[in-house]
Amino acid sequence: MKKLIIEGKKEISGTISISGSKNASLPILAASILSKAVKLSNVPFVKDIFTMIELLKFIGLKVKVQPNKKILELENKKRNINTLAPYRLVKTMRAGVLVLGSLLTKYKKAKVSLPGGCAIGTRPVDLHLFALKKLGAKIKIKDGYIIAEASRGLLGAKIKFPSISVGATENALLAAVGAKGKTELMNCAIEPEIIDLVKFLKKLGCKIKILKRKIIVNQSTISESKVNHRVIFDRIEAGTYLIVGALVGKKLIIKNIETKIIRNEIFILKKMGVKIISSKNSILILRSKNLKRILISTKPYPGFPTDLQAQLMVLMTQAKGRSKIKENIFENRFMHVPELKRMGAKIDIKNKIAIVSGPTRLTGAEVMATDLRASVSLVLAALVAENKTVVNRIYHLDRGYEFLEKKLKKCNAEIKRL
Ligand code: UD1
Repeated sequence: MKKLIIEGKKEISGTISISGSKNASLPILAASILSKAVKLSNVPFVKDIFTMIELLKFIGLKVKVQPNKKILELENKKRNINTLAPYRLVKTMRAGVLVLGSLLTKYKKAKVSLPGGCAIGTRPVDLHLFALKKLGAKIKIKDGYIIAEASRGLLGAKIKFPSISVGATENALLAAVGAKGKTELMNCAIEPEIIDLVKFLKKLGCKIKILKRKIIVNQSTISESKVNHRVIFDRIEAGTYLIVGALVGKKLIIKNIETKIIRNEIFILKKMGVKIISSKNSILILRSKNLKRILISTKPYPGFPTDLQAQLMVLMTQAKGRSKIKENIFENRFMHVPELKRMGAKIDIKNKIAIVSGPTRLTGAEVMATDLRASVSLVLAALVAENKTVVNRIYHLDRGYEFLEKKLKKCNAEIKRL
């Protein structure tokens, strides 16, 4: 099994170019089922994207991949398609469930494997199904599959989500564009990745308006012509490298981003004493000393993202005093804590809150990655720790971080894959 070997305490300088967003690409790929022909650029070629490509090919789309150019071309000119998303392709990547909305819109039926639980929590899909049922889909669960049908087409409705979900908002949008009349989605997630999906859908001809947490969709006719779209930057990858800069950076530049989208993260890091100079599309992080403690909670966008909680926790170990981070989105997202403790971190967990005492000297150890963001937090801890760290089970990292070692190595980090 592959592992990363990291020699810590090396100062990092240079420029890191941020890849396109995995979490924006996945729903856009699911939305491509609706179109005739699509050309996507700035696609990150990480494991989850390849899994989605495999799923779309299984369904019957033609896919042309140009990883060197970060381009993906998709074609769906068939009348009849395989409206099935099998377990083997959904179990490793929950976003597979997003084909449900597109398949129902275009083919009026879908059979999609239930994604099941995952390491960070139970992660049900009840909110996805709630919205689709309100749009008139008949849904039953059989043998681990969601079997959905809308033989006479979907019907526009007013839908208020009982709680905010990124995936459910995306699935509801993909179904609502094909629903007769007008749909109002309320209490929606408004993550930048959803805004990017809406931009893409508008290029396909969809009529969508966003008003704070409300999204209004009018029945749309999908364009016959080829659509080009450049995927938004990965704000979680950007935030991860910002934290790398705060931990071990001397002069690190993060480029290929839209700074305004991550202004909250920048504000929080500045509050902790990180030296950041930002411009419209890049950020310079300078050596930061005397980091201050912070109290923070994860929230839906524009709040602090749960996908950066583990990475920020590593920075907290280097800040003076007792920092606190409350995880509000997932019920079991502190699995990196025992591993960080093995490296010397002082962390107590009380219900949803992790209390981190610092500053602490971290030391290298053999650690085990448990999920995508937890894995990268161990890499961050290894970069600031004394001696050598071995991070095991790095296939999680490959699901979401493009060229991680290459990007870090270019900036003088000592990191290799075995
Ligand atoms: C997406 C992101 C993931 C991120 C998460 C929260 C992608 C591919 N993944 O995941 O990286 O961590 O948003 O920002 O974009 N929930 C329900 N019922 C549902 C759906 C969700 O109870 O039907 C709960 C979840 O268990 C969780 C919370 O709602 O506690 C938020 O989950 P959600 O926003 O749906 O996350 P994902 O879309 O799965």
